[in-house]
Amino acid sequence: MTSDLYVWMFLPGEYRPVVAGRLSLSLTPAGRVGRFVYGKSYLSNKNAIPIDPVALPTHGNIEPFLSLGGYPGAIMDSCPDRWGIKVINRLLGEQPYPDGYILLNDPGRVGCLAFSTSADTPPEELASREFELEDLLRASQLIERNQAVDDELLRALHPGTGGARPKCNITDKEAVWIAKFPSADDPVQISTPRLEHASMTLAKLCGINAAETRLLSVNGSDICLVRRFDRVVKSDGIARLGYLSARTVFNSDPDFQRFKIASYARLSRWLSRFGTSPDGRAELYRRMVFNCSVRNTDDHELNHGLVFDPQCGYVLSPAFDIVPQMVPHRIYHHAMMTGETAAGTFDNMLSACAAFGLEKDQAVQIIYEIQSLIKSHWQDVFYECGCGEEEIRYLERYFSPVPLTGD
Ligand SMILES: Nc1ncnc2c1ncn2[C@@H]1O[C@H](COP(=O)(O)OP(=O)(O)O)[C@@H](O)[C@H]1O
Ligand SMILES: [Mg+2]
Repeated sequence: MTSDLYVWMFLPGEYRPVVAGRLSLSLTPAGRVGRFVYGKSYLSNKNAIPIDPVALPTHGNIEPFLSLGGYPGAIMDSCPDRWGIKVINRLLGEQPYPDGYILLNDPGRVGCLAFSTSADTPPEELASREFELEDLLRASQLIERNQAVDDELLRALHPGTGGARPKCNITDKEAVWIAKFPSADDPVQISTPRLEHASMTLAKLCGINAAETRLLSVNGSDICLVRRFDRVVKSDGIARLGYLSARTVFNSDPDFQRFKIASYARLSRWLSRFGTSPDGRAELYRRMVFNCSVRNTDDHELNHGLVFDPQCGYVLSPAFDIVPQMVPHRIYHHAMMTGETAAGTFDNMLSACAAFGLEKDQAVQIIYEIQSLIKSHWQDVFYECGCGEEEIRYLERYFSPVPLTGD
């Protein structure tokens, strides 16, 4: 049995998508296999860009897709994750995974793709009216508690993007923002949206290109706004930029298919295949060192990505979802390998430096610089972000220097 998914693309600066191609999925004894072909009209469009320059080139052979259930990574990046799926299930009932969720086009989905079941049926978007943040916050709490929520609010709370935390999109004159709400599952010691805003602020202070965040307080609850880097608000509409997660980058690497080991070093080595300049590799190294230094062990392959820059192609996106994980350990192990292992130690981080184009002394300098900036500034940054004495005392353990060595 074969099923087809038509893939549409919002080309840079365009507000309507064009058909880019078709993904045919067939069930074989070896599992589901996906085959993608670009449409002739797309290939003859002089503005056409590849959906993924490595796995889905517009010139050259496109290999069948065997991992991720036969879906190219770039298409799976358009699928909502835990929170989005929960909201859609409440609104429309459970859908077949993943195509049912992929086909529910949402103005908020990450990147610049849209989907339909035929080339003649343009994708329709789940529109919603605007609500006050106060109403959205209250509705997100009701969703978490499985209580009744108005359908219009459910539509507004569908973020389009992935991730597990309660969130939605809000738009103002300047930008589209992801509003990240508190969750009933959050640790009690400190508000998670505040921790995220303060950690992202600290990351910027350490020289990392982190997405802009703002902290709002609504009826005593914190909400962290994260500026979207894949949307550009213009006077006549909102333009979309392509996005590829690190998972998509890894799945383009034949070695990854064999070993399935996600690592910062592999991401770094593959950046240049996507057109990213060598500066991107040093930036990635800083992010790895920073994540280790603030014990953000939730630094998995969907929390890193590339964004399309019409001038230079895919570049490392601004950093996002940097939050120290509130589980005290002696040695922290990260979601991607940080060197020879996943341990967040000085020696291990140093062992990986060549993959980032860094000499050992340059890497040592970056590690020292970030550790010393954190030591000198984290408390001030957290005070300024509204953390109290007790919270700062509690957080101290997460901002101590990384251990030199350990397994
Ligand atoms: N600033 C941003 N601009 C565009 N997309 C983003 C941004 N931040 C996150 N995303 C996308 O949204 C997803 C969920 O956001 P994230 O902050 O990771 O939420 P969660 O805390 O629930 O994991 C990410 O995996 C990424 O695809
Ligand atoms: Mg995340």
